[in-house]
Amino acid sequence: MNLKVVEIKQQLDQFRVEDGAHLEAFRLQFLSKKSELQELLGEVKNIAPELRKEFGQAVNNLKQYAQELYEQYKNIVESTTPVQISEIDVTRPSTLYSSGSLHPVTIVMNQVCEIFEKIGFSSVSGPDIEDDWHVFSALNFPQDHPARDMQDTFFVNLNPEFLLRTHTSSLQVRTMEQCKPPIRVICPGRVYRNETITARSHCIFHQVEGLYIANDVSFADMKQVLLYFAQEMFGADTKIRLRPSYFPFTEPSAEMDIECKLCSGKGCNVCKFNGWVEILGCGMVDPNVLENCKINSKTYSGYAFGMGIERIAMLKYKINDIRLFFENDLRFLEQFVNE
Ligand code: DAH
Repeated sequence: MNLKVVEIKQQLDQFRVEDGAHLEAFRLQFLSKKSELQELLGEVKNIAPELRKEFGQAVNNLKQYAQELYEQYKNIVESTTPVQISEIDVTRPSTLYSSGSLHPVTIVMNQVCEIFEKIGFSSVSGPDIEDDWHVFSALNFPQDHPARDMQDTFFVNLNPEFLLRTHTSSLQVRTMEQCKPPIRVICPGRVYRNETITARSHCIFHQVEGLYIANDVSFADMKQVLLYFAQEMFGADTKIRLRPSYFPFTEPSAEMDIECKLCSGKGCNVCKFNGWVEILGCGMVDPNVLENCKINSKTYSGYAFGMGIERIAMLKYKINDIRLFFENDLRFLEQFVNE
């Protein structure tokens, strides 16, 4: 093959055409009367007769190839309308694009965690699919406790030993099994219960669990920390009260109320006309639970608490239907963009 033919073929393949000026340069370089390719065509007649046919064919093919490329580039260049620089108004405000924002549940969950992190708690997480030991047995739930009943718990079909955690208290157990006291953790996470979905309850919601284990931890320590939390979360003038309650894993147990923010304790339909709203459960960790997790209950004591995040968010933002958190309606979610 003639060297010149190979060289021109390479030039053709390397030539980039992106606009009209490039296209014209292409035409001048490969297709004009004065182009090297045209000159090669003129030389065909001077070639020795026995080589002429082969040479002529190669040059003609090359010319045809150049012509085809030119047509293709022409089509492309002509189909893209050039934008005149002068047509662009650089002073025009750019198109506003909407960016996502944190979900109110995430916002409140982060706030709760930050409040406890400020006083030395660290945040831990764990599996949503749990076993009976971590959710119930280690937490001192009797074998026949109603919370194990199919009404409340979602079991895994393939193996009913496994279930979706019904509370984040399972993370107390995991932490105590893995760490030596002193322990000071909070455990945020999603929980699942086989509940009918209504304005006040849902089968999926979120909790933050707290656990403090050390020497000589008292009920008064717990009360002070929970008062600090309530005032950080709901304002410095927030009042709390503790009512006796029952949980298998704490003794004594209590529920904590805050004075209703909507009616300042006078009574309204949010607080069911008693002036107080419940926000969490708490108590001193039952010695059986410590022993189940191989912690000496003679040396150590501790408190634990657990709260529902949706409930806190509903009180904080005056939301009256828990289902709104799970509907992904932008009109609802967009209200929390600046939180
Ligand atoms: N696990 C309880 C629930 O889901 C909440 C709770 C109550 C957690 C008392 C605690 C506690 O750690 O001490 O309702």
